[in-house]
Amino acid sequence: MKIGIFDSGIGGLSVLHEAYHRIPGQEYIFYADVDHVPYGLKTPQQITEFAIENTEFLIEKGAQALVVACNTATSVAIKELRNRFDIPILGMEPAVKPAVEGTEDKRIMVIATPVTIREDKLKDLLHRVDEEHRVDLLPMPKLVEFAENEEFDSNEVVDYITEQFSRFDKSEYSALVLGCTHFNYFKPIFREICGKETLLIDGNYGTIHHLADVLGLPFNYDQDKEVYFEDYHNMLCQEKTEYYFSKNFVKNIETLERLKRLHNRLEAVRKV
Ligand code: DGL
Repeated sequence: MKIGIFDSGIGGLSVLHEAYHRIPGQEYIFYADVDHVPYGLKTPQQITEFAIENTEFLIEKGAQALVVACNTATSVAIKELRNRFDIPILGMEPAVKPAVEGTEDKRIMVIATPVTIREDKLKDLLHRVDEEHRVDLLPMPKLVEFAENEEFDSNEVVDYITEQFSRFDKSEYSALVLGCTHFNYFKPIFREICGKETLLIDGNYGTIHHLADVLGLPFNYDQDKEVYFEDYHNMLCQEKTEYYFSKNFVKNIETLERLKRLHNRLEAVRKV
């Protein structure tokens, strides 16, 4: 099975990484639309056009199923993609449901891009699952830029996150939902700021679980195996993946090294 995965950038790599853990042995085509990142500051029309273009490209390259590894693109374009294309297409949404179900009281913070926060898709989701109105929403657009620059632990990042959270009382919250795939890289900072007791939850597990279900693939529940790559050859051979950066097949060593570094970062922060 050849599975296409796209995002505006390196956020989607965290979804691919989860797929390596949970449904290994498949073929993947990963597409980062680096020419148009960030999506979270574009109009819904622009994002929908990009999403259609990315999907056409991935289907041309042989994708038999597609994961829109981007909450932002899902929130504006998923219906249009499903209308146009005839393969299974899965989207991503902030993991509000598991956060509500996994905590008994206190508030839940959802952080995402401005588009995801603004769109009706999230409002509809809250309407369905947030019966007690425990959820607060906070856009954090700058984190996408920090992530694309591989700036994950700098003082600037810590200051930005601290400042964004400063108008909320930490003790009132029991969960933080990472509603943008780019935010996974910052888990250690979120953990540090939010404390050990806070449930940190992203949408990757749920998305890949759903993907396995839809495609009838066995899902690996085992948490023990680690997916680190020693070099990029090992990354390309161990997990059969073609990487594209906005239609350009990634073959230069520098970018492959970068992808390897990012996968290893995702592995290191996975259980934070
Ligand atoms: N990674 C994307 C998401 O999950 C969007 C980031 C962006 O391009 O703004 O929403």
